[in-house]
Amino acid sequence: MEKKIAVLKGDGIGPEVTDQALLVLNAIEKSFGHKFHYTEALVGAVAIDATGNPFPDETLKVCQNADAILFGAIGHPKYDNDPKAKVRPEQGLLAMRKALGLFANIRPVATYKILENASPLRADLVSGVDFVVFRELTGGIYFGTRGRSEDGNMAFDTCTYTRAEIERISKNAFEAARIRRNRVTLVDKANVLASSRLWREVVKEFHAAHYPDVELDFMFVDNAAMKIITQPAYFDVVLTENMFGDIITDEASVITGSMGMLPSASVGSAVALYEPIHGSYPEGAGKNIANPCAAILSAAMLLETSFGLLEEAKAIRDAVVKSLEDGIVTVDIRRENPSSTTEVGAYIAKLVEKNAKVNA
Ligand code: IPM
Ligand code: MN
Repeated sequence: MEKKIAVLKGDGIGPEVTDQALLVLNAIEKSFGHKFHYTEALVGAVAIDATGNPFPDETLKVCQNADAILFGAIGHPKYDNDPKAKVRPEQGLLAMRKALGLFANIRPVATYKILENASPLRADLVSGVDFVVFRELTGGIYFGTRGRSEDGNMAFDTCTYTRAEIERISKNAFEAARIRRNRVTLVDKANVLASSRLWREVVKEFHAAHYPDVELDFMFVDNAAMKIITQPAYFDVVLTENMFGDIITDEASVITGSMGMLPSASVGSAVALYEPIHGSYPEGAGKNIANPCAAILSAAMLLETSFGLLEEAKAIRDAVVKSLEDGIVTVDIRRENPSSTTEVGAYIAKLVEKNAKVNA
């Protein structure tokens, strides 16, 4: 198979972890006889430094011409404490999501047996946790009208959703449920917000019309935030709007023992984007300490979802599990005598090649 991949390494630890994902993709190419053509492009703070724009037109073109996008991370502390900054790296990410129509953000939350004791929750609570959040990504309060009064003493953000926006991501969530444990939980705040009441109404109707075989339930977001801690194994597919999804996926990611293990996909009607759930972690940048597994698993998700390469994706996942079992892990997982970013990446890439040879 021959494919084009846009590579957007971005900021902070983005370049380091993406390099490890590329190393593993190279191992897949070699072992399975594929050819991937990579084109790098700028996004985030590095793009602002080079062009003044966090998502330059050139980057959009590279993405549109690719069969899939591998993305690192975005953000730089020099913008975080400057409320007056005119351009911010995060605007690049939002512009990219909007321009590429990436309306569904898919964030799987699965635990690894070996990491259960690294979770802030008791091992019996995290054992067997396996759910996936479908977060709406191009609507809601992130993209609604916002502003500031002339005297500067009042500000507002609005949360807007349309029936069409809710239906299209509902379809993704219900389809996923059918090949999982067949349950969708809609997370909203329908006891307060009009937009949430629309979500409930539309999801109910859509369910009745197209997916009556899937179990559907509803949960207020504050309650869901508790349940992720008290009974995370309850969830199968979680469907939610943009900002609730942002918050609960950060919460959900830490219960797995390490946020550094979780990949994600953002999909729409055309090219899809794959990225680690963790951010740019600027304190760790350039130190060769970041966990590359989320980036490597994002590459696996890319192969599976965009290219249909199931066996190749499995080869990567198996190698990641083996690296954990062999104790080749970064400092987020083991404080004493950890491996570096590049050691973990090289180990996983070698495992992929070795296993492919054994199976050939
Ligand atoms: C995420 C991030 C982004 C978001 C930021 C960087 C704009 O937190 O992908 O979850 O809020 O969507
Ligand atoms: Mn977030």
